[in-house]
Amino acid sequence: MIPRDEHLDFVSPDNLIFGRGTVTETGVHCAQNGDTVLLVTDPGIRNAGLLDPIVSSIETAGVDYEVFDGVEPDPKVSNTLECADLAGDIGADALVGIGGGSSMDVAKTAAALLTNESPIEKLFGRHNVPTEGLPTVLLPTTSGTGAEVSPASVLFDDRANGTGEKEGIIDPAILSHTAIIDPDLSMHLPAALTKSTGLDAFAHAMGSYMATTSNTFADALCVQAMELIEEHLRDATFMGADAPEAREKMALAATMAMLGRVNGGKAAIHSIAYGVQALYDVPHAVAISMVLPEVVEYNQPASTEAFARLGTRLYEADGSRRGRAQTLVEGITRLRDDLGLDQSLRSVGAREEEMDELAELAVHSDRHLEPNPRPVEVSDAKTILRSVWWRLSTVMWRTCFKPVSISTHTTTRKSGWTPRAKSILKKLPTITSRGILVPDDISEKIRESRWRSDRARPYSTQSQPREDIRRPHAPATPSHCCTIPLMCSCSGPIRRLPRPKRGRQRCKPWV
Ligand SMILES: [Fe+2]
Repeated sequence: MIPRDEHLDFVSPDNLIFGRGTVTETGVHCAQNGDTVLLVTDPGIRNAGLLDPIVSSIETAGVDYEVFDGVEPDPKVSNTLECADLAGDIGADALVGIGGGSSMDVAKTAAALLTNESPIEKLFGRHNVPTEGLPTVLLPTTSGTGAEVSPASVLFDDRANGTGEKEGIIDPAILSHTAIIDPDLSMHLPAALTKSTGLDAFAHAMGSYMATTSNTFADALCVQAMELIEEHLRDATFMGADAPEAREKMALAATMAMLGRVNGGKAAIHSIAYGVQALYDVPHAVAISMVLPEVVEYNQPASTEAFARLGTRLYEADGSRRGRAQTLVEGITRLRDDLGLDQSLRSVGAREEEMDELAELAVHSDRHLEPNPRPVEVSDAKTILRSVWWRLSTVMWRTCFKPVSISTHTTTRKSGWTPRAKSILKKLPTITSRGILVPDDISEKIRESRWRSDRARPYSTQSQPREDIRRPHAPATPSHCCTIPLMCSCSGPIRRLPRPKRGRQRCKPWV
């Protein structure tokens, strides 16, 4: 999309402090807001010793404090009410949230409860917080959620008389007073959390970049954030504290991505992932990483120009506009796969017949889908989700299908699948108009037996390295018309040609 810059009201915390060691400034910022603060965190953060430099900074500044460490992974309303009660009891002048999104969301909401008479359910929704909350100082210990700069919090209403669902509060009145992003706090984050939250941050930036509501200011933040994530997320994940620069850049990128999202808008990525999270108890960041490339690919025809520009910026793509846009989609898929986050919906227990329900959940909020560059109907959501359901993990794909070399529709004559892959492909029952392979019991068994036999063989005779594998992801759109669609790399509107009796059929652009 071409950004529209008719009006911009940039939303951000009053103070945004970034840098290694900045955690020592916490006390100074607390003292600016009063002489008593409540630290809001979870037991894991406390046990890991991440609270120590913060406490010592607060003590040095002469501020009294109390600690609430009862935050649970999926923050609950009861949790938040407890926190607000304790803050009220000690007469807190400010709340300090330390942790991932959960601790920061609880701190922001509790701060709003202390200045608003209304019961918490009156605050649910958009712009329902009449009075600005108590000042909050937020310190993220992961690089991904961006909750430190977001005017939103999400809580599970677990009360006996509650809704039993996740409820959101979105209002600038709960924005933090000060966000302190110290990469040292996320230096020892486990690899699993690093990669999933890092990809969630990428999704925040990409969603805003795609959104029709975006603007040049937000785009600048998002593009830079994506560039940093593409460059540093692998190192941050696999090298951890041995790659302090990568950690630092990821912390920066996550904050920039969320700032971009807050000011630019969001596309369909989070909506499509919503049902996956809700039905299968998949962590937010993991659900996002499962659907990210598929949603980006779905939007490609509506954002070809913007995608092409980003493809050139992130992956130095050249050539046609469509080709550069496709390079972007492939690059994002490669990033996700490199991190090992390419599991299918089947792997989390989803059944194919549940795709209808997931699709309904995905479009439950028109507000979230409105800024998406391409309309998303229930049938579109279902197609995207079926792609995710069907996807084979990289390991499965490596061992079942071994193309001789990277194949495009111009090079397939000299390359192709191994005889074993060909025999499997022949037995696959259906290829839909969108190029999705529909599995059945037979093909499932074939894949499984091939995978097992491959695993049993010596390593030297096993699959080729990743570079030689043509990605199997089935495009949501446009339709591919090759006889073997998985080998097709064309994009844009494609028309389906009648299948020839013999030989492969090439895709041709629909002009
Ligand atoms: Fe997210």
